[in-house]
Amino acid sequence: MVRRLHLHLQLQSHRLLPVPVLPRLLRPTSPRETSSSSAHWSLLTRPPPLPVPASVPVANRKASVARSVATTSASAPQEMVKAIRVHELGGPEVRPVSFFLLPRCYLRSDIGSGPGCWQSVLKWEDVEVGEPKEGEIRVRNKAVGLNFIDVYFRKGVYKASTMPFTPGMEAVGEVVAVGPGLTGRKVGDLVAYAGNPMGSYAEEQILPASKVVPVPPSIDPVTAASVILKGMTAQVLLRRCFKVEPGHTVLVQAAAGGVGSLLCQWAKALGATVIGTVSTQEKAAQAREDGCHHTIIYKEEDFVSRVNEITSGNGVDVVYDSVGKDTFQGSLACLKVRGYMVSFGQSSGTPDPVPLSALAPKSLFLTRPTLMLYTGTRDELLACAGEVFSNVVSGVLRVRINHTYPLSEAAKAHADLENRKTSGSVVLIP
Ligand SMILES: NC(=O)c1ccc[n+]([C@@H]2O[C@H](COP(=O)([O-])OP(=O)(O)OC[C@H]3O[C@@H](n4cnc5c(N)ncnc54)[C@H](OP(=O)(O)O)[C@@H]3O)[C@@H](O)[C@H]2O)c1
Repeated sequence: MVRRLHLHLQLQSHRLLPVPVLPRLLRPTSPRETSSSSAHWSLLTRPPPLPVPASVPVANRKASVARSVATTSASAPQEMVKAIRVHELGGPEVRPVSFFLLPRCYLRSDIGSGPGCWQSVLKWEDVEVGEPKEGEIRVRNKAVGLNFIDVYFRKGVYKASTMPFTPGMEAVGEVVAVGPGLTGRKVGDLVAYAGNPMGSYAEEQILPASKVVPVPPSIDPVTAASVILKGMTAQVLLRRCFKVEPGHTVLVQAAAGGVGSLLCQWAKALGATVIGTVSTQEKAAQAREDGCHHTIIYKEEDFVSRVNEITSGNGVDVVYDSVGKDTFQGSLACLKVRGYMVSFGQSSGTPDPVPLSALAPKSLFLTRPTLMLYTGTRDELLACAGEVFSNVVSGVLRVRINHTYPLSEAAKAHADLENRKTSGSVVLIP
């Protein structure tokens, strides 16, 4: 009844308005919505779902029932939960299938994810989670980290092992069921995870217990989800690929990004001189706050000449390059003799192949690390995550959670990340 009244009022208020005006009025800004939401986006995003009152039929409340049942034990019955799924590779954009359907789409609150209205390859669907088997746990996610690797999988740069698949490699959640015979993990534990198996864009998921780490009580779930994958990446890059020490000069490409922000703070704490590249003045200000001694706006300045100037022609000891195609050659040119090129990402595209001979003139080292291969054993995982969390607790790392989105709006978050509109960490809230 309440729902019907609500819907009726919605319809009444929309009917008289010209279509282009509708979306803005229809979409009150949700408290969790990112500050960077654009008018363009609100035109194309479906309206938020109506609140479901407690009196609606059980069949319509399956997600909330799933939650309450799942907390009871490992033998809880199968229930559906919501998750983002990718059935076909492609862009994140949410757009009406047809311009002529636009008014109809906005007048039907229940139709948003239905056929004939909105489309993005990131679809918000019901999925079955299943029960945890031996060695597994079921986790109800509280916060999900967004990472550039999710974009690579969505586009097909990296191949998912199944189709359709649920993206996502970073989350924090509460254990709601444990597999038979499992010890060391119990219902109610708060755990974090980063890496395989993919599938964190879900309200609940099954995980191998050996892949999760406990979250210290002083770190809240959203902070932990924003830092576990990116922070462990920074740990691997600064402490293992090339060990940064006092006196080193470090160049961080995309210094205001999720990983970049943590790299700058941590490198400074290790005693290095930090040079960071960014695309805008706002990002430069953030990078300076994060410990960059020098910032370069690489969209406007030639970063190779600037690094040359800053280092009086000596070059830097190490470059941490996640931008890839657009910066790779320049990064090599910024290195000093026997410098380290750590190429760990490709936000602008895959770098062109490098002939071995390109390393010879300066006897350079080149590595292309992957986090998962540095945290493959339980000991490595615990040590790496432990160092990240202890740096958060001690204040060495101040995590910037600059953007949060409802998980159901992952498509918008992807578009913003790819369009360089984000800085710091991006978190999706189930
Ligand atoms: N090897 C590993 O194990 C590992 C682990 C984690 C992350 N990574 C890599 O680290 C990188 C950073 O990941 P993240 O999640 O923290 O993302 P992010 O750095 O927050 O976002 C990417 C940033 O790259 C910069 N960028 C430059 N050219 C770009 C382009 N053409 N398109 C989009 N962005 C561009 C943008 O910063 P500006 O606007 O300042 O240019 C953008 O904000 C990614 O490449 C990711 O694959 C690798």
